[in-house]
Amino acid sequence: MIKEQIEALRRELEQHNYNYYVLSQPTISDLEFDMKLKQLEELERQYPEYADPSSPTQRVGSDLNTEFRQVRHQYPMLSLGNTYSEDEVRDFYERTRRTLGGDFELVAELKYDGTSISLTYEDGRLVQAVTRGDGEKGDDVTDNVRTIRSIPLRLHGDYPPRFEIRGEILMPWDVFDALNREREEQEEPLFANPRNAASGTIKLQNPAIVASRRLDAYLYYVLGDRLPADTHLGNLEAARSWGFKTSDAVRLCRSLDEVYDFIHYWDTGRKNLPVATDGIVLKVNSLAQQRALGFTAKSPRWAIAYKFQAERALTRLRSVSYQVGRTGAVTPVANLDPVQLSGTVVRRASLHNADIIASLDLHVGDMVYVEKGGEIIPKITGVDASARVPGSEPVGFIGTCPECGTPLVRYEGEAAHYCPNENGCPPQIKGKMEHFVSRRAMNIDGLGGETIDLLYRNGLARNVADLYDLRAADLARLERLGDKSARNIIIGIRRSAQVPFERVVFALGIRFVGETTAKKLAYAFKSMDALMQATREQLMAVDEVGERIADSVLAWCADPRNRDIVERLRAQGLRMALTDDQLQAHSDRLAGMTVVVSGKFSRHSRDEYKAMIEQNGGKNTGSVSSKTSLILAGENMGPEKLKKAEKLGIRIVGEDEFLAMLSGEE
Ligand code: IVH
Repeated sequence: MIKEQIEALRRELEQHNYNYYVLSQPTISDLEFDMKLKQLEELERQYPEYADPSSPTQRVGSDLNTEFRQVRHQYPMLSLGNTYSEDEVRDFYERTRRTLGGDFELVAELKYDGTSISLTYEDGRLVQAVTRGDGEKGDDVTDNVRTIRSIPLRLHGDYPPRFEIRGEILMPWDVFDALNREREEQEEPLFANPRNAASGTIKLQNPAIVASRRLDAYLYYVLGDRLPADTHLGNLEAARSWGFKTSDAVRLCRSLDEVYDFIHYWDTGRKNLPVATDGIVLKVNSLAQQRALGFTAKSPRWAIAYKFQAERALTRLRSVSYQVGRTGAVTPVANLDPVQLSGTVVRRASLHNADIIASLDLHVGDMVYVEKGGEIIPKITGVDASARVPGSEPVGFIGTCPECGTPLVRYEGEAAHYCPNENGCPPQIKGKMEHFVSRRAMNIDGLGGETIDLLYRNGLARNVADLYDLRAADLARLERLGDKSARNIIIGIRRSAQVPFERVVFALGIRFVGETTAKKLAYAFKSMDALMQATREQLMAVDEVGERIADSVLAWCADPRNRDIVERLRAQGLRMALTDDQLQAHSDRLAGMTVVVSGKFSRHSRDEYKAMIEQNGGKNTGSVSSKTSLILAGENMGPEKLKKAEKLGIRIVGEDEFLAMLSGEE
């Protein structure tokens, strides 16, 4: 009875998932869906004997970390021959006709620009999802792929008992834009395009995060030995009837003109699609003819990809200006004659760094090519040197900071130039304050870039300690700030005194000290005083702290201006040491030990185990070597690691044993 109820709910939710994510035609509200899903979750919790990895409840992704297993592809994942020219499409067409010695049909499809995936279904259930890898072997990313709502976990209809289906995992443009906005806010590196974002996401170790990234997938190639149709299109249509999302933009072409029509239509039509495409794919429809054509070493002879020309525009370089960021990094930006490109007017383009400028041999006044090609910021990809104005000046790189005049420096091994005037250069000062108040640091609500700019321009705050001297009346006088928001900012500032010590260390904005390093330093030294007195050797003894970070911390601590800021913050009541609770959760039980965590766990997630190891004075590493002291092994620990550990005689413990060690029972 219960079993049937669970099953009925699952079927119903699967159908709603399909309506929403495959057909884009939901028939119930999100709220109703969530309520039904909750109901199912509750039943599955009460009756764990009916658990099923294909249940719609499993799409949220477990928070437990998994390591990817390498899997050999049953059929290698080949690539396609590429061309940018319509003439070469004709060559392909004629070559195919000659080889086949008669008529044939081509299926024209969009070439989706994401990351390819191979899915295996057995008895209608998704059993494995593997990335392309090197084409022979790929990573088993099944747990991550289960979170993609448009990929069915169970099929309906008349499917073969076992088959593979291949397709593309994509991050839709709107999801990509939102993700990058969020990353910008948190000062994390941006993804250059949705393809990188999709492939980065599918390789994340945490399926719950993958689930939150709202990936999509289109399937375009069915493989197996008991397929329903003897044509490619027939199999795609069958796959659609089993519940897969296949593209609507598919056309059966019986002539080259029909192929060209398809190309020309989608060259502009693709700009209105929700996902990125970079060309079209042509495939011989008949599977018998595909077999007759066969493969080269790298790709099938029965298919070809025609790639759309990345849109580019030719315009004049007016000048180069330089922007200074929070870290003092100086970025050159090209100012251009406004030009239309992929539907927007482009006035500026990134030039990245001095090396790029030199390799382009840029001169002021040059006619330059600008491309967008899926990247966020347009870039200059070439120069039309024949149009160069005689006697024009090559673009050099500035020697001094455009904001404060300090001579720039270039650190060894880095492409960027930096302004070293950390405490006197306006964008760096403002950037430090913005970092200090940001969510992961002191998390001061209501204080954004604009307000900080106002505070700075009005002489109300020149460094982070000044923020704590602000009064509501000072703020209320500023343009655009009312009494209420002024009061809220002050409350936010006061409240930030409760932020834990490790986040204070992060908030200080010491160069190269990110969130993780800040935490490690906080736990290693336990107080600001100890950290400020640390020697280079003591700093370098901390996990993941090398020369570069140690020297940066030393230089920061040695600067009397920074010492003054620390004292003022201390006087305002900010936490300058770990609390007793934090200290108690901490032990030296694993001091001096290097631990490898491997496999799947059930009592805590891998990140939690790693945190425990650090809290107990141990060090985490990824690979087994003679330096490894202990291995915490979960289910399915990698066989290579196991072999190596046995050879080196390293002690291996399971979850329970490990937890007992930490609680001092051992
Ligand atoms: S068919 C053996 N169809 O392009 C041929 N591939 O260079 C199997 N791609 O790795 C591929 N859209 O990631 C095919 N409609 C489409 C495609 C497509 C994108 C990607 C795929 C493949 C690469 C080929």
